[in-house]
Amino acid sequence: MANLRYRRARDTADRLGQVFTPQPIAALLAESILVDASEALRVLDLGAGKGALAKAVLERNASATATLVEIDKTNVPALEAVFPSRTTVIQSDVLKRTWQSPIHADLIVSNPPYSTIPSTPELEEILAVSGLSFPVGGGEWIRGDVAFLARAWELAERGTHIGLIVAAPMIRDSAYRILRRRLVGELRGLCVTQLDEGTFQNAQVRAFMIAGQRTAHRRRNVLLRKAKADGTIIDEIEISYSAATTSLDIDYHQALKRINVRADTISDTLASIGASITRGSRSQREFERLGLRAFHTTDFPGAIEEVFLKGSAHNTFHSARQGDILIPRVGTRCLVRQARVSGGAGLFTDCIYRLSVDQRNHARVWKTLSSSFGAEWRIMNASGSCAKHLPIQTLWNMPLLS
Ligand SMILES: C[S@@+](CC[C@H](N)C(=O)[O-])C[C@H]1O[C@@H](n2cnc3c(N)ncnc32)[C@H](O)[C@@H]1O
Repeated sequence: MANLRYRRARDTADRLGQVFTPQPIAALLAESILVDASEALRVLDLGAGKGALAKAVLERNASATATLVEIDKTNVPALEAVFPSRTTVIQSDVLKRTWQSPIHADLIVSNPPYSTIPSTPELEEILAVSGLSFPVGGGEWIRGDVAFLARAWELAERGTHIGLIVAAPMIRDSAYRILRRRLVGELRGLCVTQLDEGTFQNAQVRAFMIAGQRTAHRRRNVLLRKAKADGTIIDEIEISYSAATTSLDIDYHQALKRINVRADTISDTLASIGASITRGSRSQREFERLGLRAFHTTDFPGAIEEVFLKGSAHNTFHSARQGDILIPRVGTRCLVRQARVSGGAGLFTDCIYRLSVDQRNHARVWKTLSSSFGAEWRIMNASGSCAKHLPIQTLWNMPLLS
């Protein structure tokens, strides 16, 4: 489920983001919808695939019926086999107005394609009619999960439950803050579940499940959870409305809690300012074998914290250059160090992260990393007992001092 905008899709399945939801996660979504299991729900599944989501809801609610909309005709036989007497299958493009949606849906579910899709006047209209505010991208491309959310929002009425699986940007990027404010305010009982990265076969993706009921805007608390690939909930935390508009990622809020920082005093993270974090391409030993010199954890300078790299940019391996910030990914005591590249260029090992930040945010990121807060945050959030390491996912959530 990589971003298809930058590469040619391998086949139809790839182009349409056909990564199907495993049964335990579909069941978790069905359970997250706060309705009585005996309620006669009219379910609408957008991009139904082989019907995993609707099936989980129909299994739970014996009197529920479902309309399954799917673009790919090869999936239709599988869809027709899902509770045939209780489902209607529509083979159509969800993002076109040619198909007739049911008069009213009590529940809209979707695990949309996360790839970017080309914008069309019809899609622009759906985005506008939904009334949601989305960050303006390049204009020609729109994230699939954004387009499907807009379609679901357009079709949802007051009282409609929504159960969607979306990718990380909507959950934690600052560009989506206004959108989050709407979701948090207008979805009663909102529960956002972080899914394990191994949930979807052949797709290493950080996805989140959103479940709530469309209603009038109010400042509400939100429940954040974390699920294992088998659907077991392993962590949860309740956060305030304003904290939720900053990020709906449980890792972010748990990290703040660990160092006793209130979420509403922080407005940005490395992820939200669009920092790029890159791990070195090879281990120190591998670089040595290739006869290449690379910056390693043992090369962090002392008090000055500036390094001049004496190598050169490499075509095959990641290189750092002036303005980049280098921090250790693994280590014990060295984990709290950092260095600014003052000039030159060179390779760095896979024990190092390269942070590239735009000019506007550079001083702020440096100030945070070199503060005692930055050091403590990294120690508190490092994984492992003896040799500690900072997972990239954790680092994304590092709060920035203002
Ligand atoms: C990530 S898969 C999820 C499938 C299924 N809902 C599940 O959870 O297992 C996305 C599905 O949406 C379908 N799809 C992609 N674009 C679509 C569109 N514009 N209209 C309808 N279906 C679409 C794909 O063919 C695929 O089956």
